[in-house]
Amino acid sequence: MLAYTLIEKKQKGESLTKDEIRFLVKGFLKKEIPAYQMSAFLMAVYFKGMDAAEIAAYIDVILNSGKRVRFTDKNAYYVDKHSTGGVGDKISLILAPLAMASGRVRVPMISGRGLGHSGGTLDKLESIPGFRTDLSLSEFRRQTDAIGCALIGQTADLCPADKELYALRDVTATVRSVPLICGSILSKKIAEGIRGLVLDVKTGNGAFISEYSKSRELAENLKYFGEAYGLAVRPVLTDMNQPLGEKIGNWLEVEESLDVLKGGGPADVRELSLVLTTQMLSLADPQAGEALIRRELEKLLNKGHAFEAFLKIAKAQGADIRYLENPERYRPARHIIQVKARREGTIAAIDTYQLGLDAIALGAGRTAITDKIDPRAGLVIHKHLGDKVRKGELLVTLHSAKKKSIESLAILIEQRFSISGEFTSKPPIVYEIL
Ligand code: URA
Repeated sequence: MLAYTLIEKKQKGESLTKDEIRFLVKGFLKKEIPAYQMSAFLMAVYFKGMDAAEIAAYIDVILNSGKRVRFTDKNAYYVDKHSTGGVGDKISLILAPLAMASGRVRVPMISGRGLGHSGGTLDKLESIPGFRTDLSLSEFRRQTDAIGCALIGQTADLCPADKELYALRDVTATVRSVPLICGSILSKKIAEGIRGLVLDVKTGNGAFISEYSKSRELAENLKYFGEAYGLAVRPVLTDMNQPLGEKIGNWLEVEESLDVLKGGGPADVRELSLVLTTQMLSLADPQAGEALIRRELEKLLNKGHAFEAFLKIAKAQGADIRYLENPERYRPARHIIQVKARREGTIAAIDTYQLGLDAIALGAGRTAITDKIDPRAGLVIHKHLGDKVRKGELLVTLHSAKKKSIESLAILIEQRFSISGEFTSKPPIVYEIL
């Protein structure tokens, strides 16, 4: 087999066999197929798609590139949540300890790094000094059973093919593809050894898939292929036409998550955390009733029990929790610029995708595989859809170590907001639960 002919085959829109897909993915992982050929293949899939048999084969090959975790406690319900990616999406940092604090489920979570314009849970966790996301498989298993949750990334053992493909897609604009997203998300989640999976499928101008009908197609595919592996899958379609919460950037998002974990924080972040965690617990116990579960979760946030659970996870994974107990200890970014509105009106639209790219330009993400992330970089949005803004009022605060980038963005950033006299209605936080 030749990578060249398989790229050509996909380019013509023909279907590949499982052996051919295995040849490409394994060859890439063993470095026998170079990144430029794999990039060309991914781009061909991006344009031509994959049929159901190819998607199933692609998931399977990535899943079997590593080991699978097997939990042995038959009385425990292992469940997780994964997002298809958005801007300011810090929900996992809240939901995992919240679900753990309920004592109803165990959460073995494998997350990814920033991808395209969107942030990644792994980069956010690693902004916490000392936090180890590279636990071995046995540490991962042991910690999940001992305290109820562990948060790690893809490793050499677990879905190594996704780790490599993910990094390549991140820098080759090949993320927005239903089959590639299915392969990436489901392989990681099946490898975790879970029984239930809640999927936060984002839709809108800050999601990878912006059109509602396409996002729904992604949700349906994730459910179909996840269930084929015996998982209970619940996709939730949620809005991404504006950043989630106020803060975008790794440590900034940890700070905002801490506020929510202590019962405060922005209302949209709290609401979505409650909705998705409720779905996780209701997969574990369908008889419990969602209203009752939700009330229980609200209490865990308000009383600080979810925050305590987060400290417990962070401590178990080597973090210096003094920064979580007193976030003001964290040294801020070298440059901080407050940008004020030059016009007045109502925020009618926000270019969420571009704000994600702006965060990367400030240092919060990567533009090349080898880039180092600046954990302090990012932005704080002071106005959301439907908010009134007066001339001279604070619109955005920028944080960065890069003087040139922050200064040029300070001039441009107002363009990300359409400020007008007209505004119809705020989008809902949740559209549909499938
Ligand atoms: N999240 C993932 O883990 N993979 C994708 O491809 C997109 C979002």
